[in-house]
Amino acid sequence: MPASPRLTVIGTGYLGATHAICMAVMGFEVLGVDVDTDKIEKLSSGEVPFFEPGLPELLTKALESGRLRFTTSFAEAGAFGDVHFVCVGTPQRADSEAADLTYVDAAVTSLAPHLDRRTLVVGKSTVPVGTAARLAALLRSLAPAGDEVELAWNPEFLREGFAVDDTMRPDRLVFGVTSEWAEQRLRAAFQPVLAQDVPVKVTDLQTAELVKVAANSFLATKISYINAMAEVCEATGADVHDLAEALAYDERIGGRFLRPGLGFGGGCLPKDIRAFAHRAEELGVGQAVGFLREIDGINRRRRARTVDLVVELCDGDVAGKRIAALGAAFKPNSDDIRDAPALDVAATLHRMGADVVVFDPAAMENARRVHPELAYATSALDAARDADVVVLLTEWNEFRDIEPAAMAAVVRRAKIVDGRHALVPAHWRVAGWEYRALGRPSLHGTGHA
Ligand code: UDX
Repeated sequence: MPASPRLTVIGTGYLGATHAICMAVMGFEVLGVDVDTDKIEKLSSGEVPFFEPGLPELLTKALESGRLRFTTSFAEAGAFGDVHFVCVGTPQRADSEAADLTYVDAAVTSLAPHLDRRTLVVGKSTVPVGTAARLAALLRSLAPAGDEVELAWNPEFLREGFAVDDTMRPDRLVFGVTSEWAEQRLRAAFQPVLAQDVPVKVTDLQTAELVKVAANSFLATKISYINAMAEVCEATGADVHDLAEALAYDERIGGRFLRPGLGFGGGCLPKDIRAFAHRAEELGVGQAVGFLREIDGINRRRRARTVDLVVELCDGDVAGKRIAALGAAFKPNSDDIRDAPALDVAATLHRMGADVVVFDPAAMENARRVHPELAYATSALDAARDADVVVLLTEWNEFRDIEPAAMAAVVRRAKIVDGRHALVPAHWRVAGWEYRALGRPSLHGTGHA
C-alpha cells in the first residue's frame, strides 16, 4: 500500500468536484467519477459546471499538474483507487420528507463489483443515521474482495461560496470508522489538512452520520429563532435588527447565523432538517426533534410574510404591478437555486398577477430554466426600471452598493422591501424611498413592519 493513497471521488457536483479538485491541488492523484458525461466532459476540459469563487483557477492548476482526471467508468475507478469518496446527492424524496438514497445506493452498487483488493470507501454524502451500516454490509456482499472492503463516514461541512477554504482548512474533520486501519487510511488521505493542526474527531459510523444533521439542524434553528423574534417584533413595533445585534454581544449566543430576514434555503438545510425529523420518527424518537417542524414552519412563513409586505406596498393588490426582484440564488456568491427563498417569493408574486423582473449576478441561467414564466433583466437598475416595488431577496454585495438616488431615478415608485436586512435604511429614506424590512418598524408609526 503506497503511503499516499490514490483517491477517487464519486459524484462531481458542488461537493465532489470541489473535493476532487482540492485534493489534487494538495498533492494527491485523484480520479473524479460521474455518470453524467456532460459534467465529466466540462470538468476534463477545465470548466467548473457551477459558480464557486476560486474553483476554476484551482481546476486549471490541478489539470495542469497531471494529478487530476475524470471518468464515467467505475471499472477504471475500482482499478485506480485506494480510497473512494462517495459524494453524490441525497435530495428530498418527491413523495415524502425522507432523503432519497437512490444515488448513494447506485454509487456503491456500481463501484463494489470492481473492488478486488483491500480498499476503503468513504461516505461524505449527508444520509439518515443507519445508512452507513447498511452500505458497509452491501459493499462486503457485492465486492470480490469481500471483508477486505471497509466503509468509513466523513461528513462534509463545506459552505457554497466558501467551498475551497472550507475544504482546504475545515473547522474540523470527523472520521466515522470501525477499525484502526480505516482511521489510518483516512489520516493518510487527509495528511495535508491534518498537517495544519485541523482538529479531528474519530467516532463510530452512526455518530459521524449524526454530526452532520445535528450541525445543520442547529444552524437552521438559530436562523429560525431570530426570525421568530422578528415575528414578535412585527406585532410590537420592536426592531429585530437591534435585538439581534444586542444578543450577539453575548459570546454564548454569538452573531453568526443570527441574521433575520427571508430565511434559509439551498440544497442542504431545508431538506436535511426534514429528513432528520423523518428518520427520528422512524427510530421512535420523533418527539426529541419535533421542534424541527416548527423551525421549518417559521422559515416558510418568512417567505409568505415577505410576499405580504410587497402586497401591502402595492396598496393591497399586486396584479399588474411591476416588481423588481433583486436576487434569485439561495444566498450570495452562489448560482444555486435549490429551495431558494428568493425565487419562491418571485414566483409567488408572479402567480398573484404581478409583472416580476428578476436580476441575479450569477443564477440567471438556472433561474430561467426553472422559472421561464418570469422576466429577466441584465442588471439591478435594468430590473428596477418602472418598478412599483423593489424587493431585495439575496444579499449580494453589488446590491448593498446600489446608489439609492440612482435607483430612485428609474423606478415608478420608490418603495423597497429589504428581505435580507442588507441595506442601511437611513441611506434609502434620505433618498426618498419608503424602506421596509420584516421585523423592523416602518416610519408610519403603525408598529408593523
Ligand atoms: C450549509 C451549512 O452551513 C454547511 O455546513 C453544510 O455543509 C451545507 O449546508 P450552505 O447551504 O452552503 O451550507 O449555506 P449557508 O451559508 O449555511 O446558508 C444557508 C441558508 O441560511 C442561506 O439561505 C442563507 O441565506 C441563510 N441564512 C444564513 C440566513 O437566513 N441567516 C443567517 O444568519 C445565515
